[in-house]
Amino acid sequence: MKDLSVNYCGVKYRNPLVLASATPGQDGEGMRLAGAAGIGGVIPKTIGPRQDWAVHPRNGRLFLYKGNGKRPIGMVNLELFTTKTRDEWIEEDLAIAKKSGATMHISILAMPNPEETAKLVEEMQATGLVDLFELNVSCPMPASTVGMHIGKDANRTYAQIKAAKAVSKVPFTVKLTPNVTDMVEVAQAAKEAGADGITISNSIRSFAGVDIETGKPILRAYGGYTGPAIKPVIMRHLTEVARNVDIPISAAGGVSSYKDIIEYIMLGATTVQTCTEVMWMGYNIIPKLLKDLENWMDKKGYKSFEEIRGIALPHIATVEEIAQLPPKFATIDNDICTECDKCIKVCFYRSISKSSDGDYIVDRSTCDGCGLCEQWCPAQAITLVD
Ligand SMILES: Cc1cc2nc3c(=O)[nH]c(=O)nc-3n(C[C@H](O)[C@H](O)[C@H](O)COP(=O)(O)O)c2cc1C
Repeated sequence: MKDLSVNYCGVKYRNPLVLASATPGQDGEGMRLAGAAGIGGVIPKTIGPRQDWAVHPRNGRLFLYKGNGKRPIGMVNLELFTTKTRDEWIEEDLAIAKKSGATMHISILAMPNPEETAKLVEEMQATGLVDLFELNVSCPMPASTVGMHIGKDANRTYAQIKAAKAVSKVPFTVKLTPNVTDMVEVAQAAKEAGADGITISNSIRSFAGVDIETGKPILRAYGGYTGPAIKPVIMRHLTEVARNVDIPISAAGGVSSYKDIIEYIMLGATTVQTCTEVMWMGYNIIPKLLKDLENWMDKKGYKSFEEIRGIALPHIATVEEIAQLPPKFATIDNDICTECDKCIKVCFYRSISKSSDGDYIVDRSTCDGCGLCEQWCPAQAITLVD
């Protein structure tokens, strides 16, 4: 019998998919809808006190970054914390969310003074509706004071977790910022302070661009970049932490298909969060992701995610190490080649040419084995071989 459930920080989730802290969980009803769609865990938009710096802009704050294509590759947002009061969450919304049947992973804001953060923990857990906490030290928008300004500093992150953990009666996790050169140092500090788990990661501080008709910025302030384009950046942080710090991880960043969920688990994550995909497709993307995930498990014959957790990690090497491996060269199957010439255009070693009898040939003396032609070939006619 296959079992989709996972145990994260001692708490059971019916499956590893979690609604990340953001607009789809901006109130209890949003969280309930995600839960009704079958998601394993729900996280509300970060709960904190209403203060001037915590108010989000209400005059346009989302920009779909499309690159050159139709479907966006990412999204920039200028959205700060919850617009609901703490009392509304405590008196009403958490109870509505609880009806979802999903694990309640509650996001709270790290306040500049750790004692205030601890107070927030006490107030929220008094509801009896919190299964575990996620401390936000990673929001990339605020100009100062909170969010990543705390989380980029290992000492401040340590002090926050130490104070909050001292009063928390449920497992306590922290959501780290990708806006650092080395997340391992902060993750280590979080573990030493007593964090039970780490979310990797929040959005990337970014700038939406310029409207070239007016010469003005599309969004005037710096925002958080999310969606498929950020996944490689998040996977880098996640693997560095997973290989160096022994602590359960919840992955977040660019999950838009079941394959992303599996990849993150193979890289060591226990739960996997999604936000932008739900914002683009609606809550009904959730059952599709879960069905695809289940079908993949069946196809592979896996009974539990334990069988695949972290299996990709031991294969990660340094570029110096892989440079010692034997070289590979492109080889072209002329029977399936469609003669589009794309391989010739993208070969900057000028190693691919067309022979007088019309076959495409690779000059092994100059081919550098980079693999770009292989990936661009629309007919899959190119492979790298020893
Ligand atoms: C509009 C928007 C609002 C967000 N608000 C929060 C928030 O309140 N707290 C938080 O920790 N993360 C917040 N995030 C970040 C997400 O939880 C998540 O970490 C990030 O979007 C990466 O995941 P994704 O690529 O699946 O969207 C927000 C993201 C978006 C797009």
